[in-house]
Amino acid sequence: MSNSEESRRGFFGSISAWAAAAVGAVIGVGPVCVGLYTFIMEPLRKKELPNKEKDGGSAKEGFFRVASVDEIATDVPRRFTIVADKLDAWNFMKDQAVGSVYLQKDEQGNISCFHTTCPHAGCSVAYEQDSHAYHCPCHNSSFKLNGEKLEVNGSTNPSPRPLDTLTVEVDEATNEVFVEYKDYYTGRHDKVAK
Ligand code: FES
Repeated sequence: MSNSEESRRGFFGSISAWAAAAVGAVIGVGPVCVGLYTFIMEPLRKKELPNKEKDGGSAKEGFFRVASVDEIATDVPRRFTIVADKLDAWNFMKDQAVGSVYLQKDEQGNISCFHTTCPHAGCSVAYEQDSHAYHCPCHNSSFKLNGEKLEVNGSTNPSPRPLDTLTVEVDEATNEVFVEYKDYYTGRHDKVAK
């Protein structure tokens, strides 16, 4: 075999070895990449509140157990915190406060529920015993006990809509109150869930 033939074979041999090494590297790295992608993306895909059901899963999807019927007064609205498990990109946090509502019973036992977020710009409304109304301290919106806007002393109420109502369900077997809790966009005339 001539020298030039030998060097040509050596050259092609090296290329084959490099090609085999490259293919091997791609095949080997592929599963690692897939694993990394899954590790990073899986928590993002699950970026939602996990199971919102409480107490043995007796709540319907989207409903939170808030109180027992006996805890809700007829004379004044009471504020309750919505508690749920929370999951962000990588952390699971048990029993976190995710919002709050006002609940009140009428004489017939019907329960009304209002979101505590002011529809104007998102501050928190508070029930005021003296005026028997909800009041937002940020820009002085006021609301009647039925959630309607209230004009106090001729002032203009900046809220574009009444307080946001939320759906309530009572489990007759346990006397527990469940609320379909949602957040709504503020600063709009229509009530649109986020
Ligand atoms: S945020 Fe409540 S009045 Fe503006």
